[in-house]
Amino acid sequence: MKNENPVKIAVANVSKSFPDARGEQLAVLVDINLQIHAGEFLCLLGPSGCGKTTLMNLMAGFENPTSGILTIDGLTVDRPNPKHITIFQDYGLFPWRNVLDNVILGLEAKGMKSKEARAKAEEYLELVGLSQFARSFPRQLSGGMKQRVAIARALAVEPDIIFMDEPFAALDAFTRYRLQDEVLRIWQEKKPTIIFVTHDIDEAVYLAQRVVIMSPNPGRISRVINIKLQKPCDRGDAGLTAYRGQVFREFELAHETNSEYII
Ligand SMILES: Nc1ncnc2c1ncn2[C@@H]1O[C@H](COP(=O)(O)OP(=O)(O)O)[C@@H](O)[C@H]1O
Ligand SMILES: [Mg+2]
Repeated sequence: MKNENPVKIAVANVSKSFPDARGEQLAVLVDINLQIHAGEFLCLLGPSGCGKTTLMNLMAGFENPTSGILTIDGLTVDRPNPKHITIFQDYGLFPWRNVLDNVILGLEAKGMKSKEARAKAEEYLELVGLSQFARSFPRQLSGGMKQRVAIARALAVEPDIIFMDEPFAALDAFTRYRLQDEVLRIWQEKKPTIIFVTHDIDEAVYLAQRVVIMSPNPGRISRVINIKLQKPCDRGDAGLTAYRGQVFREFELAHETNSEYII
């Protein structure tokens, strides 16, 4: 399956080290090479500590590589770009602002006039099915609803890249399934490039067109798997089950060759 869209994000020979407790450089990511195409839905999958967040932070411009080059649209990434949005696990809503005002916030930060910002915010609350909660405050919402507000706020600025770092990890399974479907639907409607970090094999194969499997100590890419399925597909689809097995075997293989590997 060859992706005909232009390359959006290019990671070339990227390594990243951080000082450890004794001040010595600890290699967290080693020699990462990856090209992500415009409009692609890609998952970074691996156990805790393998460097998923670090790799995402490098792409989002929150960190700079120790060596190697990282570009978006051909330009070197050296700082965050307001055209790219990150959604975290903890929602990041302002408790003193109601739902509508939380969504408006990002639009006003972009310089949009308040009337226009309000209309756009209402449109995106509708998209995530929360119109009737526009005047509610975050404390009055469930975790799943809070994350939908965060998604509406991120989408309202119409980003061309959305970075998501384990956004559904704190939610119960049913809410997580619903939000996965919502993200897929929105992706198909708006076609942003999505980089989705997860440690959940099921989530990765269900969502992504490509799953990048990472392994730790130091963090690296061990395999990239194309998921040649319609999105969304039935959760009981035989193809999905086969991919799940394939990804799991990759982890077992990595485990056999690396005694420090913890799944
Ligand atoms: N700012 C930092 N300073 C020092 N070490 C860090 C920093 N950020 C991440 N690390 C280390 O890098 C490794 C990978 O972390 P991370 O990217 O958060 O992994 P993941 O998201 O896959 O769980 C971990 O061992 C972590 O302790
Ligand atoms: Mg992480």
